[in-house]
Amino acid sequence: MRTLKLENHTLQYLDRGEGPALLFVHGFPLTHKAWMPQLGAFGGFRKVAPDLRGFGASEPLGELTTMGEYADDLAALVDSLKISRVILVGHSMGGYVALNFATRFADKVAGLILVSTKAGPDSEEAVKKRHESAARALSDGEGPLLTDMAAKMVAKGSTDTKLVTEIETLMRPAQARGIANALKGMAARPDSFPRLRQITAPTLIITGDADVLISADESRSMAAKISGAELEIMAGAGHLVSFERPHEFNAILTRWLSRFL
Ligand code: MLT
Repeated sequence: MRTLKLENHTLQYLDRGEGPALLFVHGFPLTHKAWMPQLGAFGGFRKVAPDLRGFGASEPLGELTTMGEYADDLAALVDSLKISRVILVGHSMGGYVALNFATRFADKVAGLILVSTKAGPDSEEAVKKRHESAARALSDGEGPLLTDMAAKMVAKGSTDTKLVTEIETLMRPAQARGIANALKGMAARPDSFPRLRQITAPTLIITGDADVLISADESRSMAAKISGAELEIMAGAGHLVSFERPHEFNAILTRWLSRFL
């Protein structure tokens, strides 16, 4: 892992390979390691994967982190690495961050891959639940939330307890403060739908149709709004599709990414 020193915090990231840069943005409450099956693949590409602020080895800052602040960290990282344009790959919360980045820093985006994510904001009820979960994590610790989230990362009806345990292990570095900051940040995120039309970079949207956290319909709606977007729906796959079905996922990306080589 390498370290980027920013004004008030540091960001830990992995940087591997050479070629057009893929910037992998993990979801909640994961770390760059969620992309392990991807970080060893895609020869001919540079792979950059940070731990977002407050996750993995990157320390939290303040009491709430907005999607815009995570995106600012990514812009600082891209600039510090002297990468002019990246192909952004964002999973779930990482997709909320990628959408923010793609509309605010469009000149830095060569391509966009949105994985198991959505453009709409939280409902009033979801906002309330996020704040309750944040308070619970801060008062009782992160353990129960991690167990709950790990079980929701796999396909609906899956009995693969080994995979769930593996995912929970990936989540273990997450600590209450980083978790609470992200939950409050997600609750505060604006509706990105009206901005989808601004996206002009080639876009791939990929999701599983057995995702219990974010319905595949969200991906269909985004694909209908982003000009030229390609949509891949993986039958029977769950929320953390890139980890659950890495070979199929990587094959779809490899095919789509060939335009950059
Ligand atoms: C994620 O996987 O990043 C989260 O499920 C996103 C969310 O809670 O909205």
